Amino acid sequence: MTTDPKALVFDAYGTLFDVHSVTRLADSLFPGRGPALSQAWRTKQLEYTWLRSLMGRYDDFNAVTADALDWALESLGLAAEPEARASLIRAYRTLAMFPEVRGALERLGGQRALAILSNGHPDMLDAVVDHNELRVFFGERVLSVHEAGVFKPDPRVYAIVTAQLGLPAEAVGFVSSNGWDAAGAKSFGFRAFWVNRGKAPVERLGSPPDAVVEDLAGLARLLAG
Ligand code: LAC
Repeated sequence: MTTDPKALVFDAYGTLFDVHSVTRLADSLFPGRGPALSQAWRTKQLEYTWLRSLMGRYDDFNAVTADALDWALESLGLAAEPEARASLIRAYRTLAMFPEVRGALERLGGQRALAILSNGHPDMLDAVVDHNELRVFFGERVLSVHEAGVFKPDPRVYAIVTAQLGLPAEAVGFVSSNGWDAAGAKSFGFRAFWVNRGKAPVERLGSPPDAVVEDLAGLARLLAG
């Protein structure tokens, strides 16, 4: 594959940061229910981003994440004290990164700009990037859908990248573990690299990824040799 993107743009949640790293806290608050709560929370959070975009009712990712948590708790019959609820929401700012992230970014960043494009509100993104000490790789190129007022995979979101980086879409490699996000990025015109952490089938959305890797170390092998 002849691939030399001028910039690599990473999805945040699920790609760099493990959304299910909240499971341990969730399990300490609700013994035995942590995995179910984490799964229900993430699933509902994404649904709300898609639904709010379709409804023309954008609200920022802090609010969507809190609403999704409340729905997930109620759906599982769990009642959270205010402090427990607040601690789960705060945990989104200190999510763990996947173990191979730093090494992969070191290998990938040498010859090209690295950026993030995420549904996250800028405050949330800055917090989790700084918590994991990844600022050195991304500088100010931590981009949020917030300025577009709509969530992925709306094309107006991916257009933030071309505007901010000053690059044509075909010069950008977009990296996401969310298959639907990779499909949206490919549909926009980026080269799409799907990090298939969950060994899922390719989404049937008419815009398959250019390459599939199992994790970011695999992407570094593909692009950095
Ligand atoms: C994000 C979502 C897709 O970070 O996880 O944009």
